[in-house]
Amino acid sequence: MNTENDTVPIYGEEDNSFHAAGGFDGIKQLVDAFYDAMEAIPQARTIREMHSPDLDESRDKLTRFLTGWLGGPKLFSEKYGPIRIPVAHRHLNIGPAERDAWLACMQIAVDAQPYPQSFREYLMTQLYVPAERSRNQD
Ligand code: HEM
Repeated sequence: MNTENDTVPIYGEEDNSFHAAGGFDGIKQLVDAFYDAMEAIPQARTIREMHSPDLDESRDKLTRFLTGWLGGPKLFSEKYGPIRIPVAHRHLNIGPAERDAWLACMQIAVDAQPYPQSFREYLMTQLYVPAERSRNQD
């Protein structure tokens, strides 16, 4: 296990990021905090309303997706089949405000996790990429 005093792992390599995020249980906790933030902050009202009232499946899907995306087991495709992030969002109106609201929820969730600061920053930088790829409006 890495602490702030250990050598910082190269997060993009192998399954380092998956482990830095606390494995499946850590990612599940992150996703729960993410959707809790989405229910709580006014900035996220529009994107909350894009989701169904019951967030159980959304929580399961995002947890499984991030597990594979961070280098862990490919749990999303195992249960739900293949996914491409821009295609998965093309029926939604996502502009810069919606992208930034999504990232704001994720920032709150990431800050609430027991991660080293270096991993928090790495994760938010990396998440910008699929968030921007989900955007389909100016
Ligand atoms: C940019 C802002 C984003 C918004 C507003 C957004 C919103 C949504 C919504 C409303 C759904 C449910 C769609 C439905 O049930 O019809 C969804 C699905 C999903 N989103 Fe996002 N999302 C965003 C970014 C992201 C990012 C950055 C990721 C991954 C890192 C992601 C991963 C997923 C996954 C895995 C699903 C399930 C897709 C499926 O099963 O079809 N989303 N998103």
